[in-house]
Amino acid sequence: MEDLTPNRKELDPIEIASRDEIEALQFHRMKRSLRHAFENSPFYRKRFIEHDVHPEDLKSLSDIAKFPFTVKQDLRDTYPFGMFAVPQSKLVRIHGSSGTTGKPTVVGYTAADIDHWANLIARSIRAAGGRPGDMLHNAYGYGLFTGGIGAHYGAERLGCTVVPISGGMTERQVTLINDFKPSIIMVTPSYMLSILDEFRRQGLDPRASSLKVGIFGAEPWTDSMRAEIEQAFDMHAVDIYGLSEVMGPGVAQECVETKDGLHVWEDHFYPEIIDPVTGEVLPDGQMGELVFTTLTKEGLPMVRYRTRDLTRLLPGTARSMRRIEKITGRSDDMIILRGVNVFPTQIEEQILKCRGLAPHFQIELSRSGRMDNMTVHVECTTDRTDEAARAASAKELSHHIKSVVGVTTRIEVRDPNSMARSDGKAKRVVDNRPSA
Ligand code: DLL
Repeated sequence: MEDLTPNRKELDPIEIASRDEIEALQFHRMKRSLRHAFENSPFYRKRFIEHDVHPEDLKSLSDIAKFPFTVKQDLRDTYPFGMFAVPQSKLVRIHGSSGTTGKPTVVGYTAADIDHWANLIARSIRAAGGRPGDMLHNAYGYGLFTGGIGAHYGAERLGCTVVPISGGMTERQVTLINDFKPSIIMVTPSYMLSILDEFRRQGLDPRASSLKVGIFGAEPWTDSMRAEIEQAFDMHAVDIYGLSEVMGPGVAQECVETKDGLHVWEDHFYPEIIDPVTGEVLPDGQMGELVFTTLTKEGLPMVRYRTRDLTRLLPGTARSMRRIEKITGRSDDMIILRGVNVFPTQIEEQILKCRGLAPHFQIELSRSGRMDNMTVHVECTTDRTDEAARAASAKELSHHIKSVVGVTTRIEVRDPNSMARSDGKAKRVVDNRPSA
């Protein structure tokens, strides 16, 4: 794989500034942002007064811990526009994330918000190894989801030629990759696997494709999956993180030269890690729930937003800004099976160790009597479809899961291509247990 490390001169100076400079900027922006929220969002004014805090109470960055958390339910309670801090006429765009209730969580952006976002995506693509002039195949979904249009604006800002294909129609994705010869692809990691299958179905060698970099995010994925994709396509696979409530993709990005976790773009977002049960702030290095305070957002400032994502904060490496470790999962995706905590990413890791299994899987939870059961439905590879091979793969997977994760599971080895594919985020868990 080509060395795509950017030249330091290409970076935004703040990416490699001293910690003192970064923290001084954060403090200045945090103060301004808290004032803006208090003065212009009736929601935050009420919240701050109820908690007896005022923006002037912020004397240092760590004073942010005095302020109350914001949660997804707050956005639902104020649906659609109740948390915004500018009049609707000042918003240039609305996005949303799909909600379980049928109504999306709505977020809004001013022109300045969109401008910052485009700059941060441009910075992220550059960190991933992209350069002006590269052709970029954008298979994140276009629409209310922030992935497609968010990535699009940033790719244009960097000076890339964007192919706005969106998700779906996998055959056409492969045709256009072969015909247009993009060097970068942005897509969810699970959909990249569908694209890989389609390459093989068409008898094409993915290693011969023009792709040099894949920027994968919007769902958890593992280092084992990175190895699988890098090997299959002979390309770099890096991680991009974000969430619509805080902005969209581009809140944190992994650098191509280190691939050691994602640098949080700390000039725009202040991260904290908290104990998800007590809410107490944890020191850097400890695992917990990621919380963000936005530092520059106008339309929808977020104060201590609880992401539910589990990770830890690590010191900067390729950049001065701190990193988050690859997200293992969300606190609400965690399966508690007979007292053991299990994340879908742990299952993915074990599947990738087994010969004869493809990483298309879904976890089904069911109950017999008082007992919770977990079944992993997983596809076999096309070269190992006979009964004996399937039985051997199932036995191997169940053994790995038992010894590494610590739970007993039933394994259903399905035919190749028999499991539903998603062209965006994969649904990894189906819970068929009767609700209590
Ligand atoms: O998924 C934004 C995005 C688009 C990020 C494209 C990256 C690429 P939401 O739909 O609001 O926004 O979902 C946000 O997705 O809280 C995480 O649980 C999960 N997520 C996003 N990126 C990653 C990642 C977009 N790199 C939620 N690793 C977040 C693990 C991720 N989980």
